[in-house]
Amino acid sequence: MAEERPSKRRVMHAVIPAAGLGTRFLPATKATPKEMLPVVDKPAIQYVVEEAVAAGLANVLVVTGRNKRPLEDHFDRNYELESTLTRKGDADRLQLVQHATSLAHLHFVRQGDPRGLGHAVSCARAHVGRSPFAVLLGDDLIDPRDPLLSTMISVHEATGQSVIALMEVPPNQIPLYGCAAVGPAPLAAAAAFENRGSGCDAVAVTGLVEKPTAEEAPSNLAVIGRYVLHPRVFDVLEHTAPGRGGEIQLTDALATLAGLDPAEGGGVLGVIFRGRRYDTGDRLDYLKTVVTLACEREDLARPLLAWLADFVASRADEDGQGSL
Ligand code: G1P
Repeated sequence: MAEERPSKRRVMHAVIPAAGLGTRFLPATKATPKEMLPVVDKPAIQYVVEEAVAAGLANVLVVTGRNKRPLEDHFDRNYELESTLTRKGDADRLQLVQHATSLAHLHFVRQGDPRGLGHAVSCARAHVGRSPFAVLLGDDLIDPRDPLLSTMISVHEATGQSVIALMEVPPNQIPLYGCAAVGPAPLAAAAAFENRGSGCDAVAVTGLVEKPTAEEAPSNLAVIGRYVLHPRVFDVLEHTAPGRGGEIQLTDALATLAGLDPAEGGGVLGVIFRGRRYDTGDRLDYLKTVVTLACEREDLARPLLAWLADFVASRADEDGQGSL
């Protein structure tokens, strides 16, 4: 039987930029990539790889920097550990260890100079070629019960345009994100949504600004770290000058792409996400994410919630005494 030829719109690759210096978590990230910080008992990057696989993307390229070894090792076999667990008859832990290895086809490329997110994405060009691809940023974890990425993929496959994930945020938080100006979505995008019954909205992206001030922001729609991109973005990135912070910004390239003819790979659509997103980008959000996800675990939820209630009550008592 002849093999099915991949359609031009079929998304098959996931790209995970993981070359950041992780300065917000120093000294923990001095010798360990921030993507390896544990969220309950799994490194953050494993959640992201699992999300890509759940959306049908088992071909994953990780764009790394200097501290890449732990990332590669995590997704590789560890024969010594496996044989120790086998000898002890610890089948559950053995399965956990092997799961990371069998999860996806992992590839690694080095960014070299850390010249920004746009530059990291352009490092995927030789691997991805001329097909559309997804980009997943590791600071954002999306709850697997709210399948954002597969919705974005179906919008791309219906329209051929690049698709970015947007989320409504309070105006004071907009300066932390890329921000989108939007208009009504083309009919094909809306139809792709109805087919999935996802309850999200699709919009056309008419402009994008990286980390604007609250006054400059064209809306309250923040770019969250999921993108499905037409390969035309690589040509645009090649001509994108350094922007905010002197870095080549993906947001700037997407602003250019939004103005190009959809017949030539241009056009950007937005999916407004209203599901559960967990931020691991700074220390406080990271701690909230760890507690939230631990409370979703059957073996941890009850004792952790009970301890948290006691802990909060005892702190409130101490504060009350302190103020007397
Ligand atoms: C990056 C992007 C930004 C986006 C954000 C989402 O910024 O440049 O447009 O809103 O991710 O997490 P970073 O958080 O890496 O500074």
